[in-house]
Amino acid sequence: MADIKITKKSKINAEINVAADKSITHRAVMFASLSSGECIINNFLNSKDCYSTIELFKNLGTKIIEETNKTLRIFGCGLQGLKQPKKELDCGNSGTTLRLSLGIIAGNEIKVKLIGDESLSKRPMARVIEPLSLMGANISAKENNYLPIEIEGNKNLKSITWNSKIASAQVKSAVLFAGMNANGETIYKEPVLSRDHTERMMEYLNIPIKKKENITSITGKVKEIKPFEITVPNDPSSASYFIAMTVLLPNSSMLIKNVCVNSTRIGFINILIKMGAKISFSNPRILYNEPVADIFVESSKLKSIKIKAEEVPSMIDELPLLAVVATQADGVTEIKGAQELRVKESDRIKTITIELQKLGAKIIEQPDGMIIMGNTKLKTIGNEILNSYNDHRIAMSLAVASSICDGEIIIKNAECADISFPEFWNLYRSI
Ligand code: S3P
Repeated sequence: MADIKITKKSKINAEINVAADKSITHRAVMFASLSSGECIINNFLNSKDCYSTIELFKNLGTKIIEETNKTLRIFGCGLQGLKQPKKELDCGNSGTTLRLSLGIIAGNEIKVKLIGDESLSKRPMARVIEPLSLMGANISAKENNYLPIEIEGNKNLKSITWNSKIASAQVKSAVLFAGMNANGETIYKEPVLSRDHTERMMEYLNIPIKKKENITSITGKVKEIKPFEITVPNDPSSASYFIAMTVLLPNSSMLIKNVCVNSTRIGFINILIKMGAKISFSNPRILYNEPVADIFVESSKLKSIKIKAEEVPSMIDELPLLAVVATQADGVTEIKGAQELRVKESDRIKTITIELQKLGAKIIEQPDGMIIMGNTKLKTIGNEILNSYNDHRIAMSLAVASSICDGEIIIKNAECADISFPEFWNLYRSI
């Protein structure tokens, strides 16, 4: 993978489109694979993680045609029509592919071995194995928690009531997918509402689901998912890097078009606004049951903030970026209750702390978050080499830090941004 060299930017003024939403693309491919006919997904995210899902479902018998680099045509197998694959299935770097697919395979009479890359092989899976086993799937995993995982599905799953200790959309979605094939009503409770794209897509597809605050329930033995067409909005997580850069650079402004502004995803934008950022939404609309808007952002003076545990889920993927932004705010920023960051594609509390410290940032690592001193000039002595740890969100957060940093920086394996945002570096260079 290539290293990328970066120097400080002066100002940016642009109108851009960022990558399509990763979470929504994964789910659209999955629901289409379970449908009873021909589906179209427009503006799908053609990134590495989403190809992991596409390949996995092709190996489970779904016919998926990439009509253009923006459109997929998918011929579904039906809710319990997945085929026995001939080989083990590779989820690559993608936790969403792995955890959600486990929930789907659980209700199909097939036996599958799942593997992934080095990072995914270290991430905890007991959180999905436990509820799915209770529902009747036969699952074994290394140390009952890690890849490789072998799962044997069961056409007669039992419904459960599951009280999750963590706010995780991946666990919730796995249980809801399995719940579609279970007898009776499956109820899922979570401490704070995590991203709700699965529930919204289920509503859009007339799957019998009910939502009340942090409790979601689904009536099982769903007969059919009718063929559908959907257009994926752009990803608020991908937009966040350009929002942060515009806020931090002087005399800058940016319009970012067609972004998903689902409230379970825009915690970072809301926190930036609280910190003093000039950000506004225009052209609000609902597309395929997801709120979408254009986002306008300008250079801003920021003050520090305290992030509490209940605010974490709506900005979980943006917290490394918030650490970058907080180095430039007035005062001390505290992030608490974010221990989940330790089990993402890298241990993001550790990795962002180490790398920002190389640029002179004053950050203290905490077991469940970070304390970040503001008003710190980021600089390097000579050529600083930063490590992305092959984690796309760390690579892109470091790109934002580098854009305001005196001196020349090399980000190692920076191309890992293509896990979620294949055009990131082209866009970064073009503005
Ligand atoms: C995702 C959910 C989040 C997030 C990940 C994508 C999803 O993970 O960090 O990038 O698409 O459901 P958790 O649900 O494990 O918190």
